[in-house]
Parts: sequence; C-alpha cells; structure tokens
Amino acid sequence: MQQLTRCLSLLALPGADNMSVIEAAKPSLIETQAAPLLSARNIEVVYDKVILVLRGLSIDVPKGAIVALLGANGAGKSTTLKAISGLLKTEEGEVTRGDIMFDGERINGIDPDKIVRRGIFQVMEGRRIISDMTTIENLRLGAFTRSDGDVSADIDMVFRYFPRLKERTGLAGYLSGGEQQMLAIGRAMMARPKMILMDEPSMGLSPLLVKEVFAIIRQINRDLGVTILLVEQNARAALSVASHGYIMEQGKVVLDGTADELRDNEDVKEFYLGGAGDQRKSFKNLKSFKRRKRWL
Ligand SMILES: Nc1ncnc2c1ncn2[C@@H]1O[C@H](COP(=O)(O)OP(=O)(O)O)[C@@H](O)[C@H]1O
Ligand SMILES: [Mg+2]
Repeated sequence: MQQLTRCLSLLALPGADNMSVIEAAKPSLIETQAAPLLSARNIEVVYDKVILVLRGLSIDVPKGAIVALLGANGAGKSTTLKAISGLLKTEEGEVTRGDIMFDGERINGIDPDKIVRRGIFQVMEGRRIISDMTTIENLRLGAFTRSDGDVSADIDMVFRYFPRLKERTGLAGYLSGGEQQMLAIGRAMMARPKMILMDEPSMGLSPLLVKEVFAIIRQINRDLGVTILLVEQNARAALSVASHGYIMEQGKVVLDGTADELRDNEDVKEFYLGGAGDQRKSFKNLKSFKRRKRWL
C-alpha cells in the first residue's frame, strides 16, 4: 500500500487512499454521436494566481472520436489537458472561468483521482512511467481505481496491442523511449477510461515509431470505443488519426475543422505541416503568422 501511495504521488494523483469502485467504461463499438462527451466552454486558466494562460478556450470532443489539439510550443495545450484532468491543482493552476462538462456533468475543480474515477485518464508528456518498477507493476498502477477481478485479463489485452512490452519483463527504466510511450498508453488503458488525454505521444520518437504508436492509438479507439483528445506539435501525425482538430495560439483556439479541412488549409500547411515533414522550420514562421493575423 505504501508503495502504491508513493507511486500515485509520482503520478500526481492525490487522495489515492480513498479507493472505491470505478464505474468502468464498458468497451463498446460506437459511432460518433452528436452530444459531445467532453466540452470546454470559454475556459480561463491562471497559474500562481496571476499568470493568465488560457484565455477563453472552447473545444468539443464527441463521444468515440479522436480529436487533435494542435499548436506551437507554449500555446497552452498541456495546460488545457491538465485543466480537464484536474492535474492543474498540482501546479498551482486554477480554472478561473468557464465550464468543463464531461458526460453531462461539470467537472471544474474536481480532484484528479476523482476525475480518473469518472473515466478520464491523462497520459502525461514525457511518458512518466515509474522507472524502478517493472512493466507489469506500471500497468497495475493504471488500474488503481478498480477492484474488479479483470485486471490480469486487461494486462493480457494491453500486451496484445503492444506485444513487445510482454517480452520486457524487467524494470521499466530500461525500456526504450518508444516502449515507455507504449507502456504509458497501456497504463491508461488499464483504468478502462471513457476518455484518454494524450500529451504529445510522438515526442522523441523516430518517424517509424510515431507511425506505429499512432496506428495503435487508432486501433484502441476503434476497438474499445475510447474517446481520445490528442495534443500534438506533430500536426501531420495527429491529423492522420483524428477526425477533427483545433489549432491553438496563445491560450485560444484560432482555427478548427475536420482533419481534412485542416490538412487542406493553406495556413495550416504553411505553419504546421511544413515542408518535408520538418516541423521546426514551420514554427519559426510564427512571428510572421502573428503579424498577418489571418486567423484572428
Ligand atoms: N506550472 C506553471 N506555472 C506557470 N506557468 C506555466 C506553468 N505551466 C505552463 N506555464 C506557462 O503556460 C504557457 C503554456 O504552457 P503549456 O500549456 O505547457 O503549453 P504547450 O503544452 O502548448 O507547450 C507557457 O507560457 C508556460 O510557460
Ligand atoms: Mg505541452
């Protein structure tokens, strides 16, 4: 128990001692429905009582969809995910305005462990696996809200999606970057969430691994019906799996549309899809983007 509490504090999930049964999201094949599962309306986020980072951000994520939240470094993408998952609290951040609605209920200000119980699991940037625990121990950690007897069966399920993890029985710290990302996603699956928030799953991976990880993300969404909000600087990879996307600049949405519309949009091509897949190059042009204010 002590070990578990320590690990949960590493995962920034306070209140883990109060364990109760999660209302597990039943895997089901679903169609995207009209009413959004998650909806943020005009949210404002302030850090340390004074630093205004989100300035009236609104997004909708339909049930069963993969939605991409794109934007340059510093736009406020991770802040948006932390506002939804409640993890803002662990960083002196606060939603000071607006509504975050999930599954018909307002979830502003709810503690992160309770948000997990409601069915939202965030895969944090930089993977955040526990390096001195084994692969299986890390996976079990994802199931901390559950008291049903299916945890072992779900570990087998995760291994079916990520077969290479099964062979890696040692400490997670020895896994490659790609394997750690897979483990972080697998750990989220172990919570049987209705929705997974993924923060830059492509970060630090080779193009080949990005393809592999994104193909599995799509497969998980289709097979299990898990709704996914995908934050990425890699717009190309994200739009290859998402049905809709939002583009953020300075704490606000500046453009949104279907993945096809965004891929065909000249500004998106110029600034976010770049030439020859070179993301960095296009981000350097953001200054000229701001000057032209085409989207604002
Ligand atoms: N814990 C924090 N305290 C103060 N400012 C923060 C904190 N986290 C992020 N910020 C600021 O909020 C802005 C958006 O950050 P972030 O949400 O991490 O952007 P992104 O994920 O799009 O790169 C940045 O200017 C960043 O410096
Ligand atoms: Mg970020």
